[in-house]
Amino acid sequence: MMDMNAPQLSLGVIGAGAMGTGIAQVAATGGIDVIVFDTRPGAAAKACEGIAARLSKRAAEGKMPTEDADAAAKRLHPAASLTDIAPCAIVIEAIVEDLTVKTELFSELEKLVAPDAILASNTSSLPIGAIAAGLQRKDRVAGLHFFNPVPVMKLVEIIRGPDTTEAVAEALFVLARRLGRTPVLVKDTPGFLVNFGGRAINTEALALAHENVASPAEIDAVMRDCYGFRMGPFELMDLTGVDVNFPVTRFIYESFFDDPRLRSTPMHRYKLETGQLGRKTGRGFYSYAEGAEKPSADTRTGANPASAVFIHGEMRGLETLLAECGTDILASDDGTAPILAAPLGEDASAYAARNGLDHRRLVCIDMISDTAKRVTLMTSPGAERAVLESVIAIFQEARAVTAIADSPGFIGQRVAAMVANLGCEMAQTGLASVEDIDLAMRLGLNYPKGPLELADAMGPEIVHRILTAVQALTGDDRYRPSQWLRRRAMLGLSARQA
Ligand code: NAI
Repeated sequence: MMDMNAPQLSLGVIGAGAMGTGIAQVAATGGIDVIVFDTRPGAAAKACEGIAARLSKRAAEGKMPTEDADAAAKRLHPAASLTDIAPCAIVIEAIVEDLTVKTELFSELEKLVAPDAILASNTSSLPIGAIAAGLQRKDRVAGLHFFNPVPVMKLVEIIRGPDTTEAVAEALFVLARRLGRTPVLVKDTPGFLVNFGGRAINTEALALAHENVASPAEIDAVMRDCYGFRMGPFELMDLTGVDVNFPVTRFIYESFFDDPRLRSTPMHRYKLETGQLGRKTGRGFYSYAEGAEKPSADTRTGANPASAVFIHGEMRGLETLLAECGTDILASDDGTAPILAAPLGEDASAYAARNGLDHRRLVCIDMISDTAKRVTLMTSPGAERAVLESVIAIFQEARAVTAIADSPGFIGQRVAAMVANLGCEMAQTGLASVEDIDLAMRLGLNYPKGPLELADAMGPEIVHRILTAVQALTGDDRYRPSQWLRRRAMLGLSARQA
């Protein structure tokens, strides 16, 4: 097998669409000769010209040396026919996502290239084992899963099929690094790592909206302000397009035999059916029409703040926060003041009933999610609006406030616990190493922390308590804790403990 760092390396790219073009670009800038083939007449040449133009623009903007841009452009060669691929030491397929078309291509390719050439697929959903199944030599076939747009996204998932050799996987690591990417090794399972891991935040955000707990704008604001996500889940779904994320969600849900953890809601499908795909159609979960304003995520009131509150139970940080807002804390419940509590995984109704509290005066605050920018308040169905408003008034000068309907685990606890739990499940099933799970989710989806790092930041025991409580109250096994999480929570270990 050829050394992927060899100065004279020749790489074939089949499919000159969005992904193939991006792959050809990073290969050419990595000093590799690239031969591009596409069945669409003229597509390969157009892709090569497009890359050359992009690189020369980057050079003009001072983002790369002109000689590097020119040298990279000279390394791009459109193929007149598939046979031009024959001298390549490695071929990366990025054609239509169809198993029959891909297997036909791979069986042609294996007859063309040298016996030790590597054949890689950029498929995002087809099993690498299935692509390799009918071939003479399955050991040299692997997945090399790039992300869109390739020149920007550093992550590459390397997937070994049942027969892929260690040497092939290692060669792909070398190649990925030469292309300036960060490779992670992932098992050949549906959605591989990032597309699987990304289901937690989206589906839980949709579940919260489905239950009328809060609006998409409120859910997005909580995930941005309290967990540091650059975009909220609805903003991200609108950006990628519901026509992309709904089919991926359904595919992964069905592939895991309807595991309720991965379940979406009717609203998700409805957006697709009604053509509300997101930014590309001008309307998704938000409107992108000219002059459309984003709905506010803040609940504000003209009421006066309560001068004193009673805190039920203990929760670190709550007294400090109230002191900062200039609110007195009563030593005992006086029968009239608002009662503040910070439940874990419980809703206000369950918390009031379990503790025998006056639910009309109970206002719950999420103290697990970061409250530096925004606080989430929650009340039970029978709560007095005036009491809630007097509590909103306490916080609204110092923080943004989001008041939501009753929900076990508020917004933040629920979504974060689901993200952490799916990360734990990935570790439990050996999808990738603990380090690679976190790295891939940070690089592939821009997460501020990987899911296992998030579990540790919250505390595995806390995450476990949230999920157990939500599961008990909803009766929904969607919230069942991963066994990986349970064991580490019970033993006081890090979620990253292998
Ligand atoms: P695309 O539709 O932009 O491009 C596919 C190209 O392949 C087209 O130019 C088409 O003419 C060509 N093609 C189709 N059949 C061919 C054949 N038999 N031989 C040669 N060329 C053929 O598709 P895109 O988005 O670039 O996706 C390509 C692959 O990458 C798919 O397997 C997809 O699942 C995967 N992928 C896509 C990502 C994305 O965000 N678009 C992300 C990661 C993976």
